[in-house]
Amino acid sequence: MDKFVINGGKKLFGEISVPKAKNSYLAILAGCVLSSGVVVLHDCPQFVDVSKMLDILSILGAKVKKRDRDVEIDCRYISNYKVPQDLARQIRSSIFLLGPIIGRLKKALVSYPGGCDIGSRPIDLHLKGLRTLNVEINEKFGMIECEAHELKGNDFHLDYPSVGATENIMMAGVLAKGRTRIFNAAKEPEIVDLQNFINKMGGKIIGAGTDTIIVEGVESLSSCEYTPMADRIIAGTYLLAGATCGGDILVKDVKACHIYSLLNKLKDAGFDIKIKSDSIRLASSKRPVSFGKIETMPYPGFPTDMQPQALVLQTISSGVCIVTENLFETRLKHVPELVKMGANITMKDRMAIITGVDTLYGTEVCSTDLRAGAALTIAGMQAQGQTVVTNIHNIDRGYEKLDEAFCKLGADIKRV
Ligand code: UD1
Repeated sequence: MDKFVINGGKKLFGEISVPKAKNSYLAILAGCVLSSGVVVLHDCPQFVDVSKMLDILSILGAKVKKRDRDVEIDCRYISNYKVPQDLARQIRSSIFLLGPIIGRLKKALVSYPGGCDIGSRPIDLHLKGLRTLNVEINEKFGMIECEAHELKGNDFHLDYPSVGATENIMMAGVLAKGRTRIFNAAKEPEIVDLQNFINKMGGKIIGAGTDTIIVEGVESLSSCEYTPMADRIIAGTYLLAGATCGGDILVKDVKACHIYSLLNKLKDAGFDIKIKSDSIRLASSKRPVSFGKIETMPYPGFPTDMQPQALVLQTISSGVCIVTENLFETRLKHVPELVKMGANITMKDRMAIITGVDTLYGTEVCSTDLRAGAALTIAGMQAQGQTVVTNIHNIDRGYEKLDEAFCKLGADIKRV
């Protein structure tokens, strides 16, 4: 198993570009199944989860070709409705394939999905939504078997604005007969990106980004070229690294409006932030001041995917911060690892109370999930002495060579 060996204490300086978004790419790749044409996606990021989704598409019958940073997916011959169990269990987003496969082939067989171990992550809302669209679902032996002789558009109210369930039902509605309306939909920018992609292929969706999405069913979708949005979580990770380690960094190819919840907190904590149309500069020369409170919420609230990295910044900021993780019940596993590094944190249920210390100290810590791994890497970059982060395969699921990206800014990280 690879590890990061980090010699901490280096400030970060320089420019860095943000790759395209994992969560957009995964949903859009699932959406390719709806197309009866050839899709070209630009700037495909090299995340492990993205290559696993491409492997699944190949097994379903798509012809996948990579050309430099682009990927061409010929979806004309998709005919296999069974998602291979071993791959489905490795990525959470395999469940997003249910809606598109049923839309295209009227049948789908998928196992319960895998993904980061951050909570129970039920899929009841996905299944309830699909049933509303006239899909018959049987769950046995860990498999989900779906059949719909005729997909019928319908109204569906989500009990909770789940990102994945919104995307799944939206995609199922695309080739359904009639109109589907999703109420209390998730409003994440990646859902707007998925809408734009589907509409570029001839879909008729409006409302993504608001809490009501309306999908008018169409007969079929055709070919298109598309460039998905930049990864707002990676942009936030870079900014939080700059804030935690000190220095002056320019994060390029990012839209500030996608991460206002973070930028507002950084500004309130006294960081010098300069926003341009597609870049954000963060400079820090003195000890950071605590955010006071971080509470994760659906978009546009503070993202759960940035909670671990923001929590690390709090460990060395002056003052006390209360972090509440509302979305995923076990997404504070990085806390005991940070305590090993000298952080002063007490925990109560889904809450971490952090009293800032002057510095962290290097030791061996374990990356328990994707964002926790990024957070512990940042902690190691701040810490005095040497930190070893183990289980970094979790980090590669959603970051493109995070070690090299940080080294470009002046960090000292070796992958061994
Ligand atoms: C997506 C993102 C993930 C992010 C999360 C929340 C992708 C590939 N992943 O995950 O990075 O952390 O949004 O922003 O886009 N829930 C149910 N029943 C369901 C579905 C969800 O109870 O059927 C609950 C979950 O347990 C969780 C909450 O809803 O508490 C939010 O989950 P959801 O928005 O569905 O997250 P994902 O789509 O899995």
